[in-house]
Amino acid sequence: MLQLPKVSDPRLLVGSSTSDDAAIFKINETTALVSTVDFFPPIVDDPYLFGSISAANSLSDVYAMGGIPLIALNIVGFPADLDFSILTEILKGVSDKAQEANTLIVGGHTINDAEPKYGLAVTGTIKPGQEITNVGSKPGDYLILTKPLGTGIITTAAKQNKISKDTLNVATNLMSKLNKTASEIMMKIGVNACSDITGFGLLGHLKEMRSDDPISFEINLNNLPIIDGTWDLIHQGIVPGGTMRNLEALDKTVNWGNKITEEEKIVLCDAQTSGGLLISVAQEKLNEFIKECEIKNQDITIVGNVNKKTSEFPITIIK
Ligand code: CO
Ligand code: CO
Ligand code: CO
Repeated sequence: MLQLPKVSDPRLLVGSSTSDDAAIFKINETTALVSTVDFFPPIVDDPYLFGSISAANSLSDVYAMGGIPLIALNIVGFPADLDFSILTEILKGVSDKAQEANTLIVGGHTINDAEPKYGLAVTGTIKPGQEITNVGSKPGDYLILTKPLGTGIITTAAKQNKISKDTLNVATNLMSKLNKTASEIMMKIGVNACSDITGFGLLGHLKEMRSDDPISFEINLNNLPIIDGTWDLIHQGIVPGGTMRNLEALDKTVNWGNKITEEEKIVLCDAQTSGGLLISVAQEKLNEFIKECEIKNQDITIVGNVNKKTSEFPITIIK
């Protein structure tokens, strides 16, 4: 992973050392800024959908910290020879999604680029000390995931025209869904750690959720929520390049157990776009957390546990 020059300042509550995707900077005792940026090339053909997915994805890094996004700036790469109405549609998708998040798009910057790219630099706030980082899971915690997996495999299949419209619709609806409600619930109940699941896949992001305690994570494959149709596509050999790179990078971190197949490994490592939150909830708060999710209509799945570390592997997969 890219090593950034070390930045140390008492006002910097979260920098790059915890592998979090948003930084947190303390202004005063009641307010800290949450700051993040994300951008990427189109993952779906529909420009409006691409805009709303990209916006949901950028906002997610604020939600994963427990912050409230307030303003955002457009980051746009656009080819000079492409019809400008496409960019208008992208920005309409962004604008509608930002409105849903109660976040104002206040400007931005566009450059001429061979391939379109879009993203947001988002600024939000949080009360200092309330931030939820990747680090802090405790033995006994439950791991909760708020969106099913498979969007990397599905969008790759869509690019090869190997997918039904229905399956793609399920995936795009999930990718454009904000992690706002899940974030509000975790802030209300109080949780130990959180990451959003994006390019490194479930296991790649789980690996970053290390702790100062000697812990290990256990994921139960039988419980994993996976978008309908995903297994079919894997059987057809459709695997994104990013997903394979995730798998290679993780191989020595994970105790796979001899029952886990290659295809199952691929799902566990599938590079997601605008995936759900992976939340580490203390056992004594689990019932309260589940009840709040029911009230707020938030889908969740318990996908694993946090244990005292007993082996060299930070992550074990069971089924
Ligand atoms: Co984070
Ligand atoms: Co990000
Ligand atoms: Co993130």
